[in-house]
Amino acid sequence: MSLLTVSSPQNFSKYTLAMQQGEALVTNASQASCLKNRDFIFEILKETLKGNESIFEIGTGTADQSIYFSQNFPNVTWQTSDLIGNHQTIIDNVAREKVNNILNPVKFDLDEDGIQGTYDVVYASNLIHCIPLATTEQLFKKVSLALKVNGLFIVYGPFLLNPEEMPEGYNQTGNINFNVRLQKQDPRIGLKHLSELVMFANKNGLVLERKALHKSANNFVLIFKKA
Ligand SMILES: C[S@@+](CC[C@H](N)C(=O)[O-])C[C@H]1O[C@@H](n2cnc3c(N)ncnc32)[C@H](O)[C@@H]1O
Repeated sequence: MSLLTVSSPQNFSKYTLAMQQGEALVTNASQASCLKNRDFIFEILKETLKGNESIFEIGTGTADQSIYFSQNFPNVTWQTSDLIGNHQTIIDNVAREKVNNILNPVKFDLDEDGIQGTYDVVYASNLIHCIPLATTEQLFKKVSLALKVNGLFIVYGPFLLNPEEMPEGYNQTGNINFNVRLQKQDPRIGLKHLSELVMFANKNGLVLERKALHKSANNFVLIFKKA
């Protein structure tokens, strides 16, 4: 499958003024990392999904991952969502690839909206470091309300781990530096501790089922299940 030529989303994070003013630095970096990450995530999805799930994606961005995954799982229904400013990019990129199991984006701003409907899976990649901690707590609450029983919340991205949580082969140095850079841009955002996510999950009836290290990126796929 060929790599997509995607247009960039308008916003990396609504909380990052520099990005809203058009600085492309992190957007380009996140686009490049998206291409690097998707094969790893796809392997985990293959092990996890039956292939006919309804999936709600938060923070679709360019839709590069969404297009790749929905092409490879032709029987899933993939609902994209993002801040309004990114919708045209998603629509254009999906239209170019002629994928028919991706639905046009719905407006979903974690600070304003609930997830309409119920889903087998909620998916969010490279989102949690772009939002404040209080918004992350809301994220788990809203996701739990939208998941069917036994539904999965699948998350990808960089996180901060306590020493006893670190799997072999994980190097946290790059993530610590990334967190410093993000917080210089906007002190409200940044990497979250795994223990914080587990606490928010448990408060909302979700249990961490799997933590898969993507070694070359020092990122994780986290899979939470609604009990
Ligand atoms: C780094 S991009 C990740 C894009 C894509 N998921 C990926 O992995 O390539 C972060 C995404 O989160 C979205 N986002 C940021 N803050 C948000 C919020 N409060 N509610 C919903 N989405 C948000 C941004 O608009 C952007 O599309």
